[in-house]
Amino acid sequence: MNDPQPPAAKSKPPSAAPATGLGFISTTLATPVTAAEAALRPLSFSDFTGQLKTIERLQVMVGAAKKRGEALNHILFSGPPGLGKTTLAFILGYELGKNVRVTSGPVIEKAGDLAGLLTNLEEGDILFIDEIHRIPKTVEEYLYSAMEDFRLDIMIDQGPNARSVRLSIPRFTLVGATTRSGLLTAPLRSRFTLQTRLDYYDHATLEGIVRRSCGLLKVAIDDAGAQEIATRARGTPRVANNLINFVRDFAQERAQGKITRPVAAAALELLEIDAAGLDEMDKRMLRIMAENYRGGPVGMSTIAVAAGEEAETLEEVHEPFLIQEGYLQRTPQGRILTAKGYAAVGLKPSGGEQGSLL
Ligand SMILES: Nc1ncnc2c1ncn2[C@@H]1O[C@H](COP(=O)(O)OP(=O)(O)O)[C@@H](O)[C@H]1O
Ligand SMILES: [Mg+2]
Repeated sequence: MNDPQPPAAKSKPPSAAPATGLGFISTTLATPVTAAEAALRPLSFSDFTGQLKTIERLQVMVGAAKKRGEALNHILFSGPPGLGKTTLAFILGYELGKNVRVTSGPVIEKAGDLAGLLTNLEEGDILFIDEIHRIPKTVEEYLYSAMEDFRLDIMIDQGPNARSVRLSIPRFTLVGATTRSGLLTAPLRSRFTLQTRLDYYDHATLEGIVRRSCGLLKVAIDDAGAQEIATRARGTPRVANNLINFVRDFAQERAQGKITRPVAAAALELLEIDAAGLDEMDKRMLRIMAENYRGGPVGMSTIAVAAGEEAETLEEVHEPFLIQEGYLQRTPQGRILTAKGYAAVGLKPSGGEQGSLL
């Protein structure tokens, strides 16, 4: 019988959460990066806009490491998907003139996998571990000595023949990325010299990113068109780039190819992304909280069941933006809908339709 799995598919894809399909935002942010998207990646510090504090910290560290001729210290990036964590890992490699090896937490299933990755590095190379919070606990302990002392003590064989071998590995830099820094253990976290959090981008910076991407794609866009896309991109460059792709098609089919404000607005209405960047899934969450739970507090797993989406996706992709923009709040008892959250779905905290007399 044929094995239905291709031989290389022994490890699960990094994003285990199935994209259930509802909503452009989860599809964009919960699936791996496409080739078209990777082509839009800034390659160097000078290409990368926004995240000023993080960039300055990185420039200091890169400059010092280069002058001393040493490997860069270990760095952890945290923050919601699509803000530039992977991009920055590659930029570090470019700026240092070193290779970047890419892997992801759940793919490293056992200590041997880690040993294979580490022993193939050259001095000063970067090992980028995406979703590092999902690395198995048994592997994580090996990472400690690798990061600290650049050695691995690995057990080989079993039973009476079992013995430990010490592998020394090149001085490398671990760059970790996580959407859930809270899930990282304290011992792992403490081994990163720099832990830096990426924030949502402001509209002006995003507008610049939209213009840059349109330039690279040779898409005609005017300032108001770029503004319109930027304000609906929920502070996230990856969303902005994906919106551009759709708006470009829309402009070609319905408007002689140029992206203007009305063209962008009409295209994004078609994707059901509103003027504030909320999509159908965001609104479904808010509506469930308002209509079924009187605004909360309600747990995310409860909301997820009612919304028909994985709690993990809602927590990683949707919730951070809804909290940042003040639509909901997180409390120890659960999530609470704010007045702004009610207003976004046309309801009032009393539970009635907005404007209707009770
Ligand atoms: N500061 C930035 N300037 C321009 N484009 C960016 C910037 N940050 C991210 N991007 C774009 O957004 C996309 C997603 O970024 P990525 O690094 O994959 O995010 P993350 O790893 O945080 O999910 C990239 O393909 C890149 O084109
Ligand atoms: Mg990434």
